[in-house]
Amino acid sequence: MAVAGTGVFADILDGEVYKYYADGEWRVSGSGKSVAIVNPTTRQTQYRVQACTQEEVNKVMDAAKVAQKAWARTPLWKRAELLHKAAAILKEHKAPIAECLVKEIAKPAKDAISEVVRSGDLVSYTAEEGVRILGEGKLLVSDSFPGNERNKYCLSSKVPLGVVLAIPPFNYPVNLAVSKIGPALIAGNALVLKPPTQGAVAALHMVHCFHLAGFPKGLISCVTGKGSEIGDFLTMHPGVNCISFTGGDTGIAISKKAGMVPLQMELGGKDACIVLEDADLDLVTANIVKGGFSYSGQRCTAVKVVLIMESIADAVVEKVKAKLAKLKVGSPEDDSDITPVVTESSANFIEALVMDAKEKGATFCQEYRREGNLIWPLLLDHVRPDMRIAWEEPFGPVLPVIRINSVEEGIHHCNASNFGLQGCVFTKDINKAIMISDAMETGTVQINSAPARGPDHFPFQGLKDSGIGSQGITNSINMMTKVKSTVINLPSPSYTMG
Ligand code: G3H
Repeated sequence: MAVAGTGVFADILDGEVYKYYADGEWRVSGSGKSVAIVNPTTRQTQYRVQACTQEEVNKVMDAAKVAQKAWARTPLWKRAELLHKAAAILKEHKAPIAECLVKEIAKPAKDAISEVVRSGDLVSYTAEEGVRILGEGKLLVSDSFPGNERNKYCLSSKVPLGVVLAIPPFNYPVNLAVSKIGPALIAGNALVLKPPTQGAVAALHMVHCFHLAGFPKGLISCVTGKGSEIGDFLTMHPGVNCISFTGGDTGIAISKKAGMVPLQMELGGKDACIVLEDADLDLVTANIVKGGFSYSGQRCTAVKVVLIMESIADAVVEKVKAKLAKLKVGSPEDDSDITPVVTESSANFIEALVMDAKEKGATFCQEYRREGNLIWPLLLDHVRPDMRIAWEEPFGPVLPVIRINSVEEGIHHCNASNFGLQGCVFTKDINKAIMISDAMETGTVQINSAPARGPDHFPFQGLKDSGIGSQGITNSINMMTKVKSTVINLPSPSYTMG
């Protein structure tokens, strides 16, 4: 079986350190330094990546600017063809890329494969969607506005922004990278990728698939290194024309510093699951477990607080407890349902939220258990608004249940959050569901299912601190373009068939 850093991927490794990608080549940083990536399961260094310098970032930006000009002159069908090729190569090499996801971010083996396959599909869909929506423009005529004759024809179309900076998070270092790379490239932009430290090696393998597809040199680059060294330098770089970021509240700091460039930001959530008395309790249970605990709760769209009507709470808590008891807890290599969280500091943060809830009187449905970064699934019942876990995002396999006495109480809790990514409501009454959905201040509300970003062409957006702009393939392509108009001024009005 193919192994990371070998075979076609041998070029991207220099001894024990993975190279960075600039000007169509795999390079060793002049810094002579590297950054260690710690395996969340073994807590030992698994990989090393280059610690790129600011000077290397400058060179990447210069090359991107030059490459973008030529790329913008490349026919749309050819851009799409290359993206389709990259998608196929990515899927062909899913095993070594998934191996990195297992080792770097402890993603269960099966989910790691799914992430790569989903990413290939996303890139292909982006190519097709780009051909459709960028192949069309608009014609406006002047006589529809009062006081005008039909003597002006306005032709508008979508043009690239220039250089897009993509910063994906650790939990989907491949999928949330290509969800930025694909739209940027099809729209005629150059792309600079700064992968998360955990997940950087998976991202470098993915970038190599784009390299193998034959994209022009300099068009795509990938710089690795310490955020403290190149983070602000990248996001405040004058060569950047657009930033697409997914991650935590670092995004808020980036948006304050970024200046006059379009921003696409997805910064997490506290997705509420409102359960009404008439809900299908088995469906609710299955979705609470899947929504709250898949990838150990490390998804921005995870169910992060259950707001359930008191009369059915005991029954649902019992059902969820029974299902949680069946989850396999262990290593990602064994395809466990619950795997170690990404870092020790993350585990410490989760533990602090749990202990705060304990001190304030929450009911623990299971005994709290932790070994290293591995935290056993925990349901906390009778959580009250004075507990941190009622509001903060644990990003781990621990889920608070707040019992409510009215739907309004649930909606109020959801809307009092500083987040507004997604939410869900469980009821058999579609009229009530629609009204609750309208009342919830979140970018998306799922009716009778747990929150989720996909399918990847659906619009995906957060309100308040959950983000800026909207994602999903079509929205991302549009976001990474600007409208350009050319107005034809006729010497005299002209009316078709007139
Ligand atoms: O973690 C943030 C992701 O956008 C969530 O994606 O709903 O596919 O897990 P997902």
